[in-house]
Amino acid sequence: MIEVKKLTKDYGHGRGIFDVDFSVNQGETLGFLGPNGAGKSTTMRHLMGFSKPHSGCAIIDGNDTWKKHSLIIKSVGYLPGEVNLPDGLKGYEFINMMKGLRGIRKNDTEADKKVKELLERFELEPSGDVKRMSIGEKRKLAVVTAFMSDPDVLLLDEPTSGLDPLMQERFIEFIREEKKKGKTILLSSHIFSEVEALCDRIAIIKDGKLISTIDAADVKHGLKNIFTIRFQNQKGMEEFLDKTSEDKLETGDIDREKAEVVLTIDNNETNKVIRLLSFFKIRSFTEHSITLEEFFMHFYKNDKKFALS
Ligand SMILES: Nc1ncnc2c1ncn2[C@@H]1O[C@H](COP(=O)(O)OP(=O)(O)O)[C@@H](O)[C@H]1O
Ligand SMILES: [Mg+2]
Repeated sequence: MIEVKKLTKDYGHGRGIFDVDFSVNQGETLGFLGPNGAGKSTTMRHLMGFSKPHSGCAIIDGNDTWKKHSLIIKSVGYLPGEVNLPDGLKGYEFINMMKGLRGIRKNDTEADKKVKELLERFELEPSGDVKRMSIGEKRKLAVVTAFMSDPDVLLLDEPTSGLDPLMQERFIEFIREEKKKGKTILLSSHIFSEVEALCDRIAIIKDGKLISTIDAADVKHGLKNIFTIRFQNQKGMEEFLDKTSEDKLETGDIDREKAEVVLTIDNNETNKVIRLLSFFKIRSFTEHSITLEEFFMHFYKNDKKFALS
C-alpha cells in the first residue's frame, strides 16, 4: 500500500535522506524508528507529496505522491510532526478549512459524526483561537483533522509528542482500534514502548539511511534470551561456570557473593542450558526478553548491520 523506492533528498552537509527503501503492506503497521534528525519527517513529507525527491519516489496505493499530491492530501490521514496553525482562526474554523482541503463536502454527516466523536474522545473544546491553544490542544486538533475522513492510510509523525501520559495512552488505544479496522499505518517515533505496543514491523533509520527492517515478533522472541540464575552456593556456581566455558556459553555479570550469574544465550541454546542446569541446585531462575530499546541501542553503539536485517 505504501512504497518508498530509493528515495533521496540531499540537503547538503550529509543531511537529508538517502536511498530510503521500504514498503508497508495493506493492514500493516510499520514503525519508523530513529533519533532526532534521522530523516523521519523528511520521508513523511515526501510521502505526502509536499516535497520533490532528488531521486527515487514514494507511492501510495499505486499513486506517485509527488505527481498526485492533490489526491494524496485528500485520501491520506497525515499527522505532521510539527503542527503549524494559521493566524486568526477558531478551532472549529480550522476544522472546516481542513475539510475543504481534504475534499470533504459541507453536508457530509459521516465526517461530522467522526469529528464529534474525536473531539469527545480526546476532550478537545474547539471554540478557542488556534494560536492560543497549548501544544497538546494543537496536537489534538491535528488528530481530529487527520482522522475525520476515516482514511485507510495513515502517516503519523511522532503522534504522541506533546500529549500528556493519559492522552498518550488514549491515543495508543485509538490506534489499536484503527489497526483492527485494517488501516495501513506508518508511525514514526523515537519512543520504544510506543513502537513496541503498536507495530508489526520496525524500520530503523539513522543519518538519513535505513539500516534495518525487523519483525516486531523477532525483537521479542528471536534474538537472545537473558537468564539470571542464582545457585544454592558459590561452589555450585563455580562448577557451573566451568561448564559454561567448556560449552562456550556467553556469561554476563557474575555476582560471587550472591552466587548469581547472568547468561546471554541464543534462542536455540535454551534447551542446552536447561539440561545443564538440571545437574545443579538452583535457588532462583529468571528470564528476561530483550527489549526493543536494547536492540536499538545495540545498533547505534555498534554502528553496523545487525544479523537480523
Ligand atoms: N527543508 C530542509 N532544508 C534543509 N535541511 C533540512 C530540511 N528539512 C530537514 N532537514 C535536515 O534533514 C535532517 C533530517 O530531518 P528530519 O527529517 O526532520 O528528521 P527527524 O524527523 O527524524 O527528526 C536533519 O539534519 C534536518 O536538519
Ligand atoms: Mg521529525
